[in-house]
Amino acid sequence: MLQYRYKNFRGKKMQIIFIGGGNMAEAIFSKIDSKNQELIVIQRNMDKRTALANKYPSIRFLSTLDFIPQDDDLVILAVKPQDAKELCKSLPRITCAVLSVMSGITTKTLAIWLDNTKIARLMPNTLAKVGMSVNGVYFSATIDKSKCQIILDIINTIGKTYIFDNEDFINKITAVAGSAPAYVFYFIEAMVNTATNEFGFDEKDALDITMQIFKGSITLIENNPNIAQLRANVTSKNGTTEQAINIFEKANLKQIITDAEIACYNKARELGNTI
Ligand SMILES: NC(=O)c1ccc[n+]([C@@H]2O[C@H](COP(=O)([O-])OP(=O)(O)OC[C@H]3O[C@@H](n4cnc5c(N)ncnc54)[C@H](OP(=O)(O)O)[C@@H]3O)[C@@H](O)[C@H]2O)c1
Repeated sequence: MLQYRYKNFRGKKMQIIFIGGGNMAEAIFSKIDSKNQELIVIQRNMDKRTALANKYPSIRFLSTLDFIPQDDDLVILAVKPQDAKELCKSLPRITCAVLSVMSGITTKTLAIWLDNTKIARLMPNTLAKVGMSVNGVYFSATIDKSKCQIILDIINTIGKTYIFDNEDFINKITAVAGSAPAYVFYFIEAMVNTATNEFGFDEKDALDITMQIFKGSITLIENNPNIAQLRANVTSKNGTTEQAINIFEKANLKQIITDAEIACYNKARELGNTI
């Protein structure tokens, strides 16, 4: 739980205003202590708003942004990219810093839509839900250092943060981290399917076995980051593991993974150029 107190020049608590109260916003606001700064979440959907208000009684939930944020507040935009333009056009003029968590929308585009150049762009991933996101963040030059630090304090609560001074790295981190939990889930899904469909394991056992493999492998890598060596250690010549690795090699699986990540990066760039 993030506990700090930022006061604005009037001695009032700083307001952190989330626009969009979905999965990613909740992963972030659930980790901020609302005793020390005022948390406000704008959620247009009444059922979702009521459910969140019951779950987080110390946060103020509103259907629309019906006040003008002060210069030292922070606005966090967390709606789906396709809802962003209409939302930005409907907002009152925002002069404080704005953090966007929306995929594919550049700071340049947001600066035009919001008539405000103080934009930071975050690329988190779904592991934010368990505090293990890999975050990439890019700050426009016009955001002052103290506000950058506040943003870092907030996003560090959901995971580990990498700061980029080139916005294209937000597209790159989308390919290597933002979308990457899905690659891992895909691999796990394939292993679980094989264990159940080909070898007749019970589905729960198949999942438990596969999760244990991933957790144990990560622990081994933490102890010894030489992954090629770790693989060689368990791949004896003419042994069983080698048979499996040979199939991966024949299919050029490493190249397939590279191609997949490049396709993801290209799509992120394309979205940034077309939205
Ligand atoms: N989830 C992730 O793992 C992840 C990872 C990286 C980046 N992101 C980015 O994070 C952003 C949010 O994703 P999410 O997964 O949290 O989506 P989400 O669960 O769909 O949340 C978006 C929420 O915003 C609400 N909303 C839309 N327009 C609004 C408006 N004008 N005023 C108030 N509320 C509004 C939506 O309400 P309705 O239900 O009425 O539509 C919805 O509840 C996206 O831009 C996505 O690219 C997400």
